[in-house]
Amino acid sequence: MTQTLRLAFLGCGAISKFHLLGIRDGAPQIQVTAAIDVDGTRAQAVAVETGARAFTSFDEALAWGGFDAVDLMLPHDLHEEFALRSFEAGRHLLLEKPMAPDLAACARILEAARKSGSVFMVAENAQYWPEVIQVRELIEAGAIGEPETARGNFFVPPLADYYGGERAWRLDQSLAGGGIAIDTGSHWLRPLRIWMGEIDEVVAGLGRPLERMEGESLVRALLRFRSGKLGVFDGMLTAAARGPEPLFRVTGTEGEITVEGLGDVMLYDANHRRGERIGERGGYMKSYAGEFADFARAVTEGTAPAAGPEESLGELRAALAMYRSAETGRWQKVSE
Ligand SMILES: NC(=O)c1ccc[n+]([C@@H]2O[C@H](COP(=O)([O-])OP(=O)(O)OC[C@H]3O[C@@H](n4cnc5c(N)ncnc54)[C@H](O)[C@@H]3O)[C@@H](O)[C@H]2O)c1
Repeated sequence: MTQTLRLAFLGCGAISKFHLLGIRDGAPQIQVTAAIDVDGTRAQAVAVETGARAFTSFDEALAWGGFDAVDLMLPHDLHEEFALRSFEAGRHLLLEKPMAPDLAACARILEAARKSGSVFMVAENAQYWPEVIQVRELIEAGAIGEPETARGNFFVPPLADYYGGERAWRLDQSLAGGGIAIDTGSHWLRPLRIWMGEIDEVVAGLGRPLERMEGESLVRALLRFRSGKLGVFDGMLTAAARGPEPLFRVTGTEGEITVEGLGDVMLYDANHRRGERIGERGGYMKSYAGEFADFARAVTEGTAPAAGPEESLGELRAALAMYRSAETGRWQKVSE
């Protein structure tokens, strides 16, 4: 019989709804037993949906004790404190990205994880995004010859759930650690890294079209991969009408693959000059099921997750290098 994994939601805000869907679709062995949020209404809402107990502090939930793992979904400035406390309490940890907003904090979290022996995963759902996996398989099968360049772009509205109301931490640079590059950008940088390899250096410019946000709400970056090949990473928060543009393009010597917003992977090659849809329609929302299935397996069966937590440092380092580049006006090595 499959072992049940008792999970505590620490933070019951916007992303917790997607995590519930991921658990439902991908990891029925997970039972959410604790719903923790300083906002008791949000904790209660998750409790009602899952049958969990609601708490307004991690301390109270720990005193009760009925969970094996923590799903940490707090503002970025709180990741380190509560990750360390989770490991100290002997719990496994699924930590929302970024691991922490700075590399020194990430090093401390990784060290604490190592000492604890707990399972530790950073929740980068793009790793499990069906289209991302499909594009990787197409590239590996030689569908576009040698990939020469890739582009990822996300132009997304500043939804009230994330950028409005009382949940204004994303607007505050000291709490978020930056703007969209360090936050949503990770879900575009991970696929680019999966397809093109590690990023070596970046040159970037930032803008703040969303004036109430301290960090960047516009980023334009040129990436040079270790292979020497070039890529582009663009993002903007905008509610304005826009023309069509794929989320990703990977252009090779013999064709191009695009990922369209509705979950279609299109292949353009000598036989399909107008493009052919490859496979079933997927969708970003399907990525969470794979993430939770992987985490549950890692805890209950001891398997290695598709990507270790260190992998997420690649996106963080790239975002931090973009910030240095915007200040200096020069290419910046990602490894610095
Ligand atoms: N993978 C994705 O697609 C994705 C999407 C959105 C957010 N995220 C990540 O999820 C995390 C949370 O983002 P969000 O959008 O859900 O934020 P949010 O503001 O909607 O939710 C955070 C919750 O934490 C609660 N909280 C704050 N301090 C607390 C404390 N000390 N103890 C308990 N609860 C506390 C707040 O009341 C709030 O409900 C961030 O790391 C973010 O980057 C990931």
